[in-house]
Parts: sequence; structure tokens; C-alpha cells
Amino acid sequence: MVTAMTTLSPPLLLLLPMLLMCGLLHLASTAFPEEPGPLNSIPSEVVRRHPVFLGRAHRSSLRLEPLHIQRILKVNRTLYIGARDDLFRVELDNVMGDEMFYSKKRTWESNKNDIRVCRMKGKHEDECRNFIRVLLSRQDGLFVCGTNAFNPLCANYTGDTLEMLGDPVSGMARCPYDPKHANVAIFAEGNLFTATVTDFLAIDAVIYRSLGDSPALRTVKHDSKWFREPYFISAVEWGPHIYFFFREIAMEFNYLEKVMVSRVARVCKRDLGGSQRVLEKQWTSFVKARLNCSVPGDSHFYFNMLHSTSPVIRMHGRDIILGVFSTPSNSIPGSAVCAFDMEQLAGVFDGRFKEQKSPESIWTPFPDELLPKPRPGGCAGPGSKYNSSNSFPDEMLTFVKTHPLMDEAVPSLGQRPWIVRTMVRYQLNKMVVDTEAGPYRNRTVLFLGSSRGTILKFLILPNSDNTVTSGNILLEELEGFNADKCGEDSPQARQLLSLILDRPSHTLLLAFPSCVVRVPVARCQLYSRCMKNCIASRDPYCGWTRGSTCSFLRPGTRIPFEQDVEQGNTSHLGDCDGLLQESFIEEPDGLVSL
Ligand SMILES: *[C@@H]1O[C@H](CO)[C@@H](O)[C@H](O)[C@H]1NC(C)=O
Ligand SMILES: *[C@@H]1O[C@H](CO)[C@@H](O)[C@H](O)[C@H]1NC(C)=O
Ligand SMILES: *[C@@H]1O[C@H](CO)[C@@H](O)[C@H](O)[C@H]1NC(C)=O
Ligand SMILES: *[C@@H]1O[C@H](CO)[C@@H](O)[C@H](O)[C@H]1NC(C)=O
Repeated sequence: MVTAMTTLSPPLLLLLPMLLMCGLLHLASTAFPEEPGPLNSIPSEVVRRHPVFLGRAHRSSLRLEPLHIQRILKVNRTLYIGARDDLFRVELDNVMGDEMFYSKKRTWESNKNDIRVCRMKGKHEDECRNFIRVLLSRQDGLFVCGTNAFNPLCANYTGDTLEMLGDPVSGMARCPYDPKHANVAIFAEGNLFTATVTDFLAIDAVIYRSLGDSPALRTVKHDSKWFREPYFISAVEWGPHIYFFFREIAMEFNYLEKVMVSRVARVCKRDLGGSQRVLEKQWTSFVKARLNCSVPGDSHFYFNMLHSTSPVIRMHGRDIILGVFSTPSNSIPGSAVCAFDMEQLAGVFDGRFKEQKSPESIWTPFPDELLPKPRPGGCAGPGSKYNSSNSFPDEMLTFVKTHPLMDEAVPSLGQRPWIVRTMVRYQLNKMVVDTEAGPYRNRTVLFLGSSRGTILKFLILPNSDNTVTSGNILLEELEGFNADKCGEDSPQARQLLSLILDRPSHTLLLAFPSCVVRVPVARCQLYSRCMKNCIASRDPYCGWTRGSTCSFLRPGTRIPFEQDVEQGNTSHLGDCDGLLQESFIEEPDGLVSL
């Protein structure tokens, strides 16, 4: 359900659904910015040419079972694909024609005993397999974890030959038991930071640090103030902290219904845990805050479901992170992209904490002057009176344990989403940003992926104050999923698992459960033969060049070209005479039409 606010009194709660409906109808007509369609919808015959990976070694080999892709990882010019029982290595510079083939495949299956135990616990045969849920680059190899028939394991693999190095170690608290559960994993300073569930029944959610020189640490067990049915999205390293992005059931609203909200939590990378009395072997620095991605108006409209984030990117002198949000599935469909300034985000953790005095009372801000010292949620070590978190006073540790939530929500840059799409049949759930788009590498293009496999390409235009953008342009909309090649077509098959930008080849890699599709970042050749169409596309990757063609402009190109990304002004140009569809010609250097 959509939450409009945080301060309704109980009698109003009963009116909530009605208020929401009115609010929504009102909002849909007034508060939402207009949502123009794409400048260009890409015809499906173009889309069908995109190369796909289907798990084959070469053209003539058969593939008996469909792939169950879980994770993809790009390391330099190599793409690693973690699927069910299989790991693949694909050379990105070695693609010719309409299919990508693997150069190496390694099978990692669960042993008979693990499968037997899994089946005895009532799991289906199809679940009692090894789904690769963690795939990370480590030194010159890979760190891989699989669900291993509900008995997760992790192991090192060589990056080139995909051979397992040494014996596997337990994957507990590093990898979920059930492939359906969301999990996150990153390495930082030699430690593995994971967010997942630690048990078969998926009740014990955890943020866990392990494998490095520091002691293993976890979040407090079975405490709904720390987590309530979390769904983990991503993690980033920034300064002395690791930030985790997720959504969960809000515990701070006294509603009858469960309300999902989006969160960011952080821990100090070098936390050493609490004293022997409080928070021993647990985080002393865990704090979390709500993310506020909303459209302002008479009643606020919130996009509460976070689906993915970008890495931290540098834009206009700020470190920012972008998130794709949506409304819940039982609400009016809508998606939004919000940007958060990392300094501002971190600043929320210097603000007030939230407190619930008794289980029945409402949540209120905790007065700063009553806070124990040192300030809860900080890192020990340099800059602190305490050289280790073990020596923090018990009073402070007890506060941390009982007050993990900050009072304020993290505001989005400009207090409104960068992009809003409502009343469309799909939900946006993946993204990738190119902050170095165009011939001068100074344009920002945002690619969004939908639950139906659609790709939307936006040009991000900064405001004059360089903070927010409002006039973002939807350049292209195209189908990313290839129903002809990827096998069975169903809503599940079209679920986009991840979206990666491969800059050197100017392509996007789209991972679906049964295939990986490679899509060029631009299709300039579609606008060839007509200068008006080329300029009107406003595509920073394309320009009108000598020989009257619309060409892909390599970064740093010296070829003279014309484009008008800012305005797309074509009033001085003559009309085109309908030659478009038949003129799908290859790029001169074969670069885009791989
Ligand atoms: C994996 O490799 C790392 C770094 O080389 C090493 O420290 C670690 O012990 C290895 N882990 C396993 C499970 O073999
Ligand atoms: C912290 O300081 C104490 C005494 O000054 C010292 O004994 C201890 O080893 C230090 N701990 C760390 C983690 O540096
Ligand atoms: C979210 O941001 C809007 C716009 O600044 C603000 O009016 C609203 O109160 C915020 N909501 C929360 C829960 O902080
Ligand atoms: C990008 O660089 C070009 C060439 O230096 C310049 O003309 C253009 O204004 C720049 N655009 C932006 C958005 O900075």
C-alpha cells in the first residue's frame, strides 16, 4: 500500500484507502510532471539482431536445459555468468554475429547427500540445486557462493580456467539458502560484507562481516527494530563506512497494515564489536534511515519500494547515488528515479534518533541533549577518544542496540524525483548510468530496465544551479528481451536481473533468467539519410556527419559532426521522405551493429 504520511491519528486510518484514492487521482492530474513518450520507439526488427548468450560453446552445440542465470559480473573484457549449477566465462571482445559463446564453463553441482537432505526437508527437486548467488572479483580470481541445495557454500575460483581453489567454506550468512531471497555481497579492505538470511526458514536477516583480519560481526538477531522482513538491494563503500540499501516493513508507523519503506543502513568498516556485556560480536555502528523518494503536492506521494541503485557517481562536483523506486504492486503503478547526495545522506546520521518509549507509544525524535557520549553510531579509531569500539561505554552501546533508526528521512536531491513514470504497464527496476556519454564524454545518459524487459534511455539535463534535473528527455524505448532467441516468453522470463554498461564496446548487457542480451547504447543508423531525424533524436551518441549519415560518435572523435542535444532544434531543416524503415544499414566500422 502507498503511505502518504507518518502522522495520521487512528480514526483517520480507517479513511486511509479513500484518502489515498482521492490523493492519487488528484495527483495524477496535477502534481505529476508530464510524461512525454519517447522521442523514438525502436522497431522490433532492429531489436531482433542484438547478440544473445544462451549458454552455448559454439553454434552447433545443443543446449538441453534452459539456463537459470542468477548473477553476472564484468571484469575488464570478460563477462562471468553465474547460473544454476554452472559458471561461464564469455570474452566480450570476441563476439561475432548474433550469438555470444562461452570460452569456459565450469559446473558446480550439489552432492547427492546435500540434495537428499534438501529433498527430505520438503524442497522441490528444482530448488535443491546450486544457484550461484554471490559472484565477486577477488585478487586475480573470483569468489563464488551458491545455495547448494539449501546448504550454502562459498569458494575461490581462478578467473581464467574457472577452477575451484582449495575447499569450499560455509556460505552461511554469506549466501541465502533459497535462490528466491535477495542478497548482497561486497569486499572492502579484505573483508566480505554480506546482507542475507542465515537460516533455512529465512527468518534471521543479517548484515555480516567475515573472511578478513577483523573479527566476524553481525547485526542483532531477531530484533524487529533492526530488521523487519528486509529485502536487500545493494551495498557501496563510501568513506569509513559501508552503506546498505534495502526495503523492509516499517516498524515506526502504527498502521494496521504492513507498510514497506526504503532504507539505507550503514556500518563502520573497522567496527570491532561491542563490550563483553553489550553488543559483543555485533555491530556498534549500525544505524539506518528512511529514503524519501516522493512527489511533492498537497498530499505527498511516495515511491516506497526501492529496486536498485547505481554505484556512487561523481556528478557536478558531488558524490551522488541514484535509486529506482516504485509503488507497491497492489497500488497504482508508478516508478521513479531519485538521486541522493552522499554528503546529505551521511548528514542524516548526524541528526536525531527515533525512539519508541513503550511498545504502544508512537515513535518520536530522541532529544539530542540526552544522548550518551560518545555519539552513538560513530566509528572508533582516529578522530575518536576511543581507539576501539570494544571500549565504548555500555550506556552508549545500549543506546545503539535499542535505537537503530534515525528520525529524519534522507531527502532526494531537489526534493523530487528526476524521472517519474506512472500509468504504464511495467515497473522500472534496474538502471545503469553513463556519465561520460557523447563525443566529449560530458553528457549523462540513464538507461532504465523494466519488469517486462523494456529499456528506456533518458538524457539527463542539469538545471542551471547544477543540482537537479527536471527536463530529462526520454530518448528511446526499446524491447530488450528477445522472445525469438531467449526461449519461453513469460513474465518470469522477461524479468531483467541486471543491467551493465560495457563502455569499450558501447553496449549494454542485459541479463535475463535464460539469456544475456547485448544492446548497443545507440542506433544512430536508424536516422541516417535524414538530417532532421538525426538532430531531432537528441541522442548524444549520434551526430550528422560527412556523407550525409547519422553516425555513432566515438568519444574524442575528430570527425566534424552536427548535433543538438540541448534543444533538438530542426526548424531550419527540411522534412524527411519516409525512407527510414528500409534503411537499416550497418555502421561503417561495424561497431554498433555487433
Ligand atoms: C580465497 O582466497 C583468499 C585470497 O587469496 C584467501 O585469503 C582465502 O583463504 C581463500 N578462501 C578459500 C575458501 O579458499
Ligand atoms: C587501544 O589503546 C589501548 C591503551 O591505550 C591499547 O592497550 C590497545 O591495544 C589499543 N587497541 C587498539 C585496537 O589499538
Ligand atoms: C519527504 O520529502 C518531502 C519533500 O521535501 C517532505 O515534504 C516530506 O515531509 C518528506 N517525508 C518524510 C517522511 O521525511
Ligand atoms: C561538452 O563539451 C563541449 C566541448 O568542449 C562543449 O561545447 C559543451 O558545452 C559541453 N557540454 C556540457 C553539457 O558540458
